[in-house]
Amino acid sequence: MHNRRASLAAIAGAVSVSLTLSACGGENSSEGSPKGGTIGIAMPTKASERWIADGNNVVTDLQAKGYKSKLVYGEDDPRTQVSQIENLIAQGVDALIIAAIDNKSLNNVLQQAAAAKIPVISYDRLILGTKNVDYYASFDNDQVGRLQARYIIDKLGLEHGKGPFNIELFAGSSDDNNTKYFFDGAMHLLQPYLDSKQLVVPSGQTALNQVTTLRWDGGTAQKRMDDILTKSYRSRKVDAVLSPYDGISIGVLSALKSDDYGSAGKPLPVITGQDAELASVKSILAGEQTQTVYKDTRELAEVAASMVDDVLTDQPVKVNDTSTYNNGVKTVPAYLLQPTSVDKTNYEVALVAGGYYTDAELK
Ligand code: GAL
Repeated sequence: MHNRRASLAAIAGAVSVSLTLSACGGENSSEGSPKGGTIGIAMPTKASERWIADGNNVVTDLQAKGYKSKLVYGEDDPRTQVSQIENLIAQGVDALIIAAIDNKSLNNVLQQAAAAKIPVISYDRLILGTKNVDYYASFDNDQVGRLQARYIIDKLGLEHGKGPFNIELFAGSSDDNNTKYFFDGAMHLLQPYLDSKQLVVPSGQTALNQVTTLRWDGGTAQKRMDDILTKSYRSRKVDAVLSPYDGISIGVLSALKSDDYGSAGKPLPVITGQDAELASVKSILAGEQTQTVYKDTRELAEVAASMVDDVLTDQPVKVNDTSTYNNGVKTVPAYLLQPTSVDKTNYEVALVAGGYYTDAELK
């Protein structure tokens, strides 16, 4: 594909090592896809507000850098997304920014992109099984899982020897590469407490393939939690739920509330989340969901827009991770942002002071 010579310039920072990959010699860029080009943006779904914000933010950031955009949403259907990307290629976009629905379904269409010399940025979710992905913009996904687990550990007092507690585990969509990073990150910290029996999983469902939630669907999670409550909790109560994403947390909460959790004498368990979606932040303030992991999608959009701009103008592309994200064919140079754990105690500082939400929106 784009015969770019990668030169690594290590800049040692105090906390992390920042690497810069030089994107010189890009055929696309050198043959005149300068400022003013059009960027295709393929987002997974409008069912979750974060992706709506992501799409809008990328468009705005590209506009500020002098680019036009074509933004499409795939309705969580992999085939729809493939045909949308085919259309974007046919329309002659200069670069693609893609948040994949099914990380393995894009091989053929990205072959077409490569043939048309269109650079590809994998947005938030790594695209697997193809050499035709140039850069990856995301968060430290392992850390997301660790923040969720750390929260449960602290809230239950596990480090002080408390327990045993009943916990149920939920994971994201099996076709999203992030899912195993979130789950493995969390289990890395939770496993010792499962081993010591301070944490018990009454459903017995602890393997990733037993706890995934196709397309991150809240209704699917609600149904699974309903089944678990019926089968495994007749004479027990749930103390904690590891949930990887706010939409799943809301589904799990619905199942719990239908089983009288949240009423006198039956408190809701500790329940984590991710994305700081408005409904979940409100739920946290109302004392229902307990925690979420905030990822500033404005920053992610900015990283992706800058990557595109740098590639198309032959500038060095800023990355800070060149070893973690192997997609099965290559290690994709990545820029990873840091997530933040948010609960009732720090939402003002994390979400309101930073301008992510206004106080009025959270009322
Ligand atoms: C993941 C993403 C999460 C969450 C989830 C469901 O890929 O990293 O932040 O948004 O999808 O949309």
